[in-house]
Amino acid sequence: YPPSSQMEETSLLRRSGCRAKGGTPGFKVAILGAAGGIGQPLAMLMKMNPLVSVLHLYDVVNTPGVTADLSHMNTGAVVRGFLGQAQLDDALTGMDLVIIPAGVPRKPGMTRDDLFNINAGIVRTLCEGVTRRCPNAIVNLISNPVNSTVPIAAEVFKKAGTYNPRKLLGVTTLDVVRANTFVAEVLGLEPRDVNVPVVGGHAGVTILPLLSQANPPSSFTREEVTYLTNRIQNGGTEVVEAKAGTGSATLSMAYAAAQFADACLRGLRGDAGIVECSYVASQVTELPFFASRVRLGRGGVEEILPLGPLNEYERYPLLKTFLLTCQYVYWQIINWDIHM
Ligand code: NAD
Ligand code: LMR
Repeated sequence: YPPSSQMEETSLLRRSGCRAKGGTPGFKVAILGAAGGIGQPLAMLMKMNPLVSVLHLYDVVNTPGVTADLSHMNTGAVVRGFLGQAQLDDALTGMDLVIIPAGVPRKPGMTRDDLFNINAGIVRTLCEGVTRRCPNAIVNLISNPVNSTVPIAAEVFKKAGTYNPRKLLGVTTLDVVRANTFVAEVLGLEPRDVNVPVVGGHAGVTILPLLSQANPPSSFTREEVTYLTNRIQNGGTEVVEAKAGTGSATLSMAYAAAQFADACLRGLRGDAGIVECSYVASQVTELPFFASRVRLGRGGVEEILPLGPLNEYERYPLLKTFLLTCQYVYWQIINWDIHM
């Protein structure tokens, strides 16, 4: 059985004391949608993160079981479960980082935009909770379509007067993870040694890998560029089709989200030189939101890095990226407003 809340608080205080002596802050992290395909492995990875002192797991189903299970892991984070909307505010109180994978996934034949009507409402409700209970938290938004859920979250925060564009980050790390994996396969390198920036957005051709900026610097044939760009842009669909109606990427996504959340926490701790790609409010292009490399710090996004030199192959799709992302974002927000 779960420990009494008094025991839990005592244990938390003791453990926070230990951390303070060691000089490492412990952060409070909430996962909303924690019982889902992404939520469960992500919760496990965050339970293993030494920077996390408190882990709140919120969902509309199954959180008692997931919480009991994870709470037996002998790592520092204290895990608490919250079930149903009546417990949303408690789940969010005092959080430093809120990770949102709540929402429905794609089935074969669907685009991410087909998820908009359901997921926009879910994201809105959850972000309203954030405005009430942890308006200064960093929010990592995973729910699709990211190109539109991030602008929607921004509107919710603006309406409540709590919007801080530096703290709202759409999670596009899986695109980078895929790019690193596929490029490493082509070049015969260790995937962990490869870093490819992926900019634009998180849907189809708006996913633009900048292969010319791959690290280590590498040259690709035109065929390789075409193959890699298509594979990275269609990585999500590749998984949706392989899962044949049972969902979309969950394990690789949890891995990517845990990596991104860890980067946000290291930034909050004050570590220097933390750079990740993320879909954020941006002035890098004429679009209001754009994924590019950002430097993370105590305030969330401290700096949006310039796109850097693009080659001819990258410039043409970038133009398409602009146009399509614009259409996704505005068309959907306009339609969504009508339903509000
Ligand atoms: P899933 O169906 O397995 O899990 C979703 C969870 O959200 C479920 O446990 C469900 O109960 C919960 N949920 C539904 N409504 C909720 C609400 N109002 N409040 C709290 N929780 C709620 O789906 P999944 O595979 O985990 O995917 C979740 C989302 O992440 C989908 O929209 C998917 O498209 C998206 N996704 C994004 C990326 C990315 O790169 N950003 C990658 C993969 C998946
Ligand atoms: C992905 O890239 O895997 C996710 O966005 C899920 C999807 O629907 O493709």
